[in-house]
Amino acid sequence: MIAILEKSIVEGEVNVSGSKNAFFPAVGAGIALGAEKIVIKNTPKIKDVFVMLELLRELGCEYKIQNTEIIINTEKIKLNNVSPENFGKIRGSVVIFGALLGRFEKAKIPMPGGCKIGKRPIDQHIKAANSLGYRVEENEEYVEAYGAPKKEGKIKFDIKTVTGTENAILMSINSKVEIENVAIEPEVQELINYLKKYGVDIRLELKEDKILIDGTKREKIKEVEFELIPDRIEAGTWLILAAATEGKIKIKNVISEHIKAVVDVLKECGAKIKIFGNKIEVEGNKKYKPVDLLIVASYPAFPTDLQPQISVMLLKAEGKSRIKDNIFPERISHIRELKKMGADISVENGEIIINPSKIHGAEIEAKDLRSTAALVIAGLVAEKKQTILKNFELIERGYENFVKKLKNVNAKIEVFEDEIRKEEIIKGISNYVPYST
Ligand code: EPZ
Repeated sequence: MIAILEKSIVEGEVNVSGSKNAFFPAVGAGIALGAEKIVIKNTPKIKDVFVMLELLRELGCEYKIQNTEIIINTEKIKLNNVSPENFGKIRGSVVIFGALLGRFEKAKIPMPGGCKIGKRPIDQHIKAANSLGYRVEENEEYVEAYGAPKKEGKIKFDIKTVTGTENAILMSINSKVEIENVAIEPEVQELINYLKKYGVDIRLELKEDKILIDGTKREKIKEVEFELIPDRIEAGTWLILAAATEGKIKIKNVISEHIKAVVDVLKECGAKIKIFGNKIEVEGNKKYKPVDLLIVASYPAFPTDLQPQISVMLLKAEGKSRIKDNIFPERISHIRELKKMGADISVENGEIIINPSKIHGAEIEAKDLRSTAALVIAGLVAEKKQTILKNFELIERGYENFVKKLKNVNAKIEVFEDEIRKEEIIKGISNYVPYST
């Protein structure tokens, strides 16, 4: 898919969809709890969700979709050898590991995939299973865990991992376990809430980055119902998009606390932001103050999933900014593309260096979900010429109705399924001028 973008000043209102990365642990919680029926409300209609649903079908589950509600029937779930194809398409699939261990005390899953944003090993997930007493065997294609788990145990992570923490919780659901050095992202905290709702004795000790879970006395559950929190990364993307395009939008359905780090950075740079309950109003500026050094790290710090987007906005700052992404230092595919648009941006000693730049339209290519969002922002900021963004379909993995929402706030974007149609429509709808060096 190809998107053609033109400089725009966004204006209006946008409604944030349910959280992609809270969907996977919601499915995991239902399976691990042993529920036969899992109802998930406020589910975004995005590709990663559909891949997960297909994968569940391979495991023997059935599902139906009713508006924003997804109903999964797990009565016939079994330990199938699911095909690596769907597993390898998304990262969220990895929670099936902990979920099956929670339900059956054994699991065999293919290697999970996800965006190519650097190394994404699962050694910590395996460490968690080992710590609980499971024997784990792995090869290049599969990970298998078996053997009765300990009734009491301790898991200590070497690094903070979001899905690793989710898996540790899910596999501990019938035991009494202390999990140390946990990730505390809102999606992890939501998983804790899901389980609390159904009687699991679980609590997060925030000051000590520790989770205490005791599932030894919990009751059998037949049916669960969860409602997904708003997607904080989608909300943050809109904030940055409005600030970068000098627009003004009201973002509805946001938990502002979840994006406090983003709001703080934007305010420091000079964007005007007002918060009213679950709405945020953002008004961009023509110029911004640079950020000396933005450290991207685990929650509550600035999230890696918004690093590409803020990299684009900082091109408008009046001085040099630096970003250090401590989660995915190799998440830099947007940089080469921004250079094609005339941006003075580079990676030096593991830091992204951003100098003030006026970018122009160009033919560019997205490589992963968040870089697609960042390059859309770049296309809406770029002067002079239109931007042709290839691989635009990647956006559908994580942003629901993105094009419709963009058009609603007056962003100039047209999307084409293939090259031929693109050429036709370019001729018809616009005074497209191809970029040449
Ligand atoms: C989750 O991925 C999210 N995905 C990612 O969102 C997000 O970027 C990431 O957390 C960080 O916030 C889902 O929730 C489905 P990690 P995850 O384990 O869990 C290293 C998006 O765009 N690590 O917290 O895979 C790892 O290499 C996506 O929506 C190990 O070394 O991330 C990384 O440097 C992309 N060994 C760091 O930890 C392990 O066993 C944090 O990764 C696990 C992770």
